[in-house]
Amino acid sequence: MSPMRVVKTVHELQAMADLERRAGSRIALVPTMGALHRGHLSLIDIARRHADRVWVSIFVNPSQFDAAGDLEAYPRPLAADLAACRGKGVDAVFVPEAREIYPAGSQTWVNVTELSRPLCGTSRPGHFRGVTTVVAKLLIAAKPHVAVFGEKDFQQLAVIRRMVRDLGLDVEIVGGKTVRESDGLALSSRNQRLDTGARRQARVLSKSLDAAERAVAAEERDSARLLHLVRSEIEKAPRAEIAYVELRDPESLEPAPPRLTGSTLLALAVGFRPNPGATGAPVRLIDNRVLHLPPEEENSP
Ligand code: PAF
Repeated sequence: MSPMRVVKTVHELQAMADLERRAGSRIALVPTMGALHRGHLSLIDIARRHADRVWVSIFVNPSQFDAAGDLEAYPRPLAADLAACRGKGVDAVFVPEAREIYPAGSQTWVNVTELSRPLCGTSRPGHFRGVTTVVAKLLIAAKPHVAVFGEKDFQQLAVIRRMVRDLGLDVEIVGGKTVRESDGLALSSRNQRLDTGARRQARVLSKSLDAAERAVAAEERDSARLLHLVRSEIEKAPRAEIAYVELRDPESLEPAPPRLTGSTLLALAVGFRPNPGATGAPVRLIDNRVLHLPPEEENSP
């Protein structure tokens, strides 16, 4: 096996992609912002099943952060990330500087207008424009056949799929299942910022999703009642500050009807203050579940 390559420029990565493509190899890209955890490693495993060459990009993308403080505080354990990639047999890691991705005078943006608006887009205007712009640039740089993204960021995945369809990009987008801690908490680099108390309380996210799933299995079809149930579960955690709890169509992200009639996305964002009484911004966690109605009811009135 050849040693893992660490690539810093778009030009070098494009040249590598051309060589691999000419040799008939399939390339899979796993775009990340580093601080790799088991969730990312599972995306690398998925990428391996789809391609001959697995490439990971590590780039903390400034344009998707709403607050400068958040960008500065974002963890950058590059040596550990490279070691993790090596351990997974990754073929190349792309670690560009910001000026490589956003050359001086940069003024080109990719914006998926409607899907970027609800849910996380409401409180983070410009966030998804930053995501789609950087992902488009990474796809242009790596020329992958497949790119893999986590389903935990459900809206991000929907927005990226829309962008790829709208621009006619020749890449398959694959979603990877959310990886969870043993108590159900979805893995996220943000989890490290929770103190012990908040970490314990953060279990309410997955518990509330489980409660909704059980309610749907017990024939609950009323959106308002389901939302109330989920909110009450989350509110059992005294430090949880709900940003949103919403039921939406999993593709269009349009609000679900009052009476649920098909597969429905339940999406949550909940903040936890770093310490009780602290004034700093809460650590915001997201999670989601697609609730599947029993097939015989899919089209019932
Ligand atoms: O999900 C992420 O880590 C980022 O939003 C992504 C897709 C790598 C773009 O910066």
